[in-house]
Amino acid sequence: MDHPKHSSLRSNLAFLALFLACVVYVCIWSSSSSLINPLFSFQKRGVDCASQTTTAAATTEFNVVEDELETILGKASMDNKTVIIAVINKAYAAQDVKADTTMLDLFIESFWQGEGTMTLVDHLVLVAVDQTAYDRCMFLRLNCYRLETEGVDFGEEKLFMSEDFIKMMWRRTWLLLEVLKRGYSFVFTDTDVVWLRDPFKKLSKNETEDLQMSTDMFFGDPWNASQLINTGFYYVRSNSKTIALFDRWYTSKDNATGLKEQDVLLNLFRGGITGELGLRVRFLDTLYFSGFCQNSRDFGQVSTVHANCCRSIVAKVKDLKAVLRDWKRFKRFMSHKRSSGTSTTSFQWTGHFGCWNSWAVPN
Ligand SMILES: *[C@@H]1O[C@H](CO)[C@@H](O)[C@H](O)[C@H]1NC(C)=O
Ligand SMILES: *[C@@H]1O[C@H](CO)[C@@H](O)[C@H](O)[C@H]1NC(C)=O
Ligand SMILES: *[C@@H]1O[C@H](CO)[C@@H](O)[C@H](O)[C@H]1NC(C)=O
Ligand SMILES: *[C@@H]1O[C@H](CO)[C@@H](O)[C@H](O)[C@H]1NC(C)=O
Repeated sequence: MDHPKHSSLRSNLAFLALFLACVVYVCIWSSSSSLINPLFSFQKRGVDCASQTTTAAATTEFNVVEDELETILGKASMDNKTVIIAVINKAYAAQDVKADTTMLDLFIESFWQGEGTMTLVDHLVLVAVDQTAYDRCMFLRLNCYRLETEGVDFGEEKLFMSEDFIKMMWRRTWLLLEVLKRGYSFVFTDTDVVWLRDPFKKLSKNETEDLQMSTDMFFGDPWNASQLINTGFYYVRSNSKTIALFDRWYTSKDNATGLKEQDVLLNLFRGGITGELGLRVRFLDTLYFSGFCQNSRDFGQVSTVHANCCRSIVAKVKDLKAVLRDWKRFKRFMSHKRSSGTSTTSFQWTGHFGCWNSWAVPN
């Protein structure tokens, strides 16, 4: 009676010891194998170890960590390893009780209203910085990636230049560096940009151009780095030079107190980083890639409209709705009078009153 009990206890202990050794091994292995990506693995390690040991104990085999980012990039990618990336948070994705729409809804709606933009949604990766945004994204059946950040709740609206707003900006810069390292080129778009025409038709295809960046104001020379650059919309080709640029951009965050990441990039440009890294950067004309700072001159040419020079989400939503109304008005008019030879430059944008007023409202 005593003997079998004793031996079963012993074998249980032996199994437990083996199991624990397994756990420790997997944890060490998974953390050292992701040295390339310390931040990411640090956040995910707890989860990975737990799920891996279950697998290991059940099958006594080690599975490679399933990399969610890679899966989503692979799914969303065009044939030429290009994706479209946007970052969303709760304030952009979930409706306020008083609101009848969200920034995310308007953004997605623009792909439906735009010319040749509908199928681009398949190539869009939405990076959610909080759970609500992620749930909303999944509900809309889009390509969703959950980006975690320690110690910050990104759910609330982040006022321009608040500390958390800046942290959020840096966090996305880190993710974009990661995407480039994996060989994907991308268009980064803020969700307060409406897409009215396929932007790839207006972007340069010249492979020697590493970066194409939108501007708040365009002064006519696409190669002059003293433009007012805007990081709300840009195309970046994945190569060693752009990886070096994003790496430099991201690592300078610790030496950038009080600056938002856009200003840091601007300083890098002013400091001559393009020459140093041999980068070719084209600045995009607001004729095609426009915004509220400088309207596109021509409805017949415009590709994107960014709610820049604007302070609050409510104001942006209000004025972007007006942009979509303008766009429908334009399309309706053109479909009736196509042969009449009306110049598309004779159309005028509705004033961006919400945004103009947003600067007068105190915090
Ligand atoms: C990648 O493919 C898409 C879809 O065919 C095309 O619109 C885009 O211009 C291509 N990008 C480049 C950089 O060639
Ligand atoms: C790309 O740009 C470079 C530099 O301006 C130029 O020499 C080259 O001919 C361009 N290539 C194409 C395919 O247009
Ligand atoms: C770039 O533009 C600025 C301002 O428009 C001008 O002062 C400067 O001379 C230009 N630089 C070059 C190299 O053209
Ligand atoms: C940090 O910023 C200061 C002032 O802009 C600059 O002189 C210094 O070289 C920077 N340090 C690093 C490590 O980039």
